[in-house]
Amino acid sequence: MMKHTVKLAATGEEFFCREDQNLLQGMQSFQMGLPMLKLIPVGCRGGGCGICRIKITTGIYEAKKMSRKHIPEEDQARGIVLACRVYPRSDLLIEVLSLSH
Ligand code: FES
Repeated sequence: MMKHTVKLAATGEEFFCREDQNLLQGMQSFQMGLPMLKLIPVGCRGGGCGICRIKITTGIYEAKKMSRKHIPEEDQARGIVLACRVYPRSDLLIEVLSLSH
């Protein structure tokens, strides 16, 4: 299974994510046993809470259906997604967004 690098634009921190893992799963399995801060906030893990909103600046990804309440269409068109609903298809550069609603 292909593994991609996910890099945070703000800090340069990176984790690896397989193509069959969403970005939150990739981040959490990478962090297992490591005393690291959470890179992306983790909530429901199922697209319901909106806390894991990120913006993907560069890279190719597959997005599963996302609640329009958290990700309106115009946001998604600008690369704003829920990390728990996105699967990498290339290396990604991301920004973590705080909850704004
Ligand atoms: S963790 Fe709740 S929407 Fe992603």
